[in-house]
Amino acid sequence: MVMFQTKFGIVVMMDSLLEVACLILVTGAAGYIGSHTCVSLLNAGYDIVAVDNFTNSKPEALSRVQEITGKTFSLHSVNMLNQEDLDAVFAESNIEAVIHFAGLKAVGESVAQPLRYYENNLVSTINLCKSMQKHGVKKIVFSSSATVYGAQEQVPLREDMPIAPVNPYGQTKAMIEQILRDLAVADEQFGAALLRYFNPVGAHASGRIGEDPQGIPNNLVPYVAQVAVGKRAELTVHGGDYDTPDGTGIRDYIHVMDLADGHVKALAWVMNHTGAEAFNLGTGKGSSVLEVVHAFEQASGVRIPYHIGPRRPGDAARSFADPTKAQRILGWQATKSLADMCADTWHWQSQNPNGYGE
Ligand code: WQD
Repeated sequence: MVMFQTKFGIVVMMDSLLEVACLILVTGAAGYIGSHTCVSLLNAGYDIVAVDNFTNSKPEALSRVQEITGKTFSLHSVNMLNQEDLDAVFAESNIEAVIHFAGLKAVGESVAQPLRYYENNLVSTINLCKSMQKHGVKKIVFSSSATVYGAQEQVPLREDMPIAPVNPYGQTKAMIEQILRDLAVADEQFGAALLRYFNPVGAHASGRIGEDPQGIPNNLVPYVAQVAVGKRAELTVHGGDYDTPDGTGIRDYIHVMDLADGHVKALAWVMNHTGAEAFNLGTGKGSSVLEVVHAFEQASGVRIPYHIGPRRPGDAARSFADPTKAQRILGWQATKSLADMCADTWHWQSQNPNGYGE
C-alpha cells in the first residue's frame, strides 16, 4: 500500500505507484483533432492537462470531452506566446510528455498573413520547448502535416521523400519538425514523433464533438456537411480537369478517431524511444472530390448540389500516403472507411447545425 499527500493535503492510498497515471500536456486541446485525441487519451488511461487560447476553438468542446469520457481534467486558457504563463502550467503539474496541436492552420490565410503564422506557430513552439527543457520534459508528439511534402507529383508519399512546402503554413510545420530534430541531436534522451496528417475528417461516433470551422470552411468535407445541413447553397468543385479518373482532385481522407488512435500509439512509442521520427497518418487510399460528394449523399440521404469551378491555386491533382512506416513502427493503421467518415460527419453536423454555437 502506498500513501502520498497531494499538494492539497489529501492523503491518497494506492496499491502501487503504477496507479499514478501518466500526465500528458495537450496544447490546442479544444481544437478538432485535439479534442478527439483527448477522448482517446482519457479512454486509454492517461491523465491530461489541457491548454488552449480558444482563438480557433471553444471551451464547450472540452466540456463534451468530459461528458463523453466521464473523466475530468484541468484546463488552462493560455496564450503560448506568453512564456511565463506557459511555464506556470509546467510548474504546477508533473508533466511526463506533450502532444502539441496548437497552431494556426489555414493554408490560404497563411499566404495572406505570413508573419502572423511564423510568429504564432514558431514562437509558441519555441516557448513550449523552453518550458519542457526547464522542467525536464523530454517527450513530444507533434501535429505535423502532409503539407510539408508540397506539390509532389509522385504518390504515394513516403516519409523519406524531400520536404518542399509551398505555403507559409506548411513551412512552419517543416521548420518545427527541424527544431524537434535538432533538439533530439542536442539531448540524447529527447524523443519526438512527427505526425504528418493527410486529410482528417469525420467525428466521434457520439456526435457530441466534431469539426467546427469558423466562417466559411476552406476544406471539402466540412463545406459539404454545411451544404447538407442547409447552411450553404451549393459546393464549388475546385477543378474538373485534373489527370484523375473523374477529373477532380484526389486526397487521402482519414477518420479523426483513427488519427486520435495514431497519437495514442505515437505517445506510447515516444515514451520508450529517443530521436525524432516522422510518420504519415493516412489510409493509403485516395478518394476524389466527387467520390466524397457521392459518399456523403449516401450517408446523409441529402443531395449535394455542386458546380465545377476553376482549379484552386496550389492544389495538387493527387495526394495520398504510404502509411507502412506507422504500421511497422507504431503498430497503427487506419480502420474506418470513407462511408464511416461521412456518416459520423453527418451525425455531428445534423445534431449540431451551428457547431458548438457561440
Ligand atoms: C480537398 C480537395 C480541393 C474545398 C488541406 C491543407 C492541409 C490539411 C488538410 C492542415 C481538393 C477540393 C475543397 C471546396 C473543393 N490541413 N475542394 N471544394 O487542400 O487537400 O488539404 O487540409 O494540416 O494542410 O492543405 O484539403 O479539404 O481543402 O481539399 O473542390 O470547397 O477538395 O480542390 O481537391 P487539402 P481540402
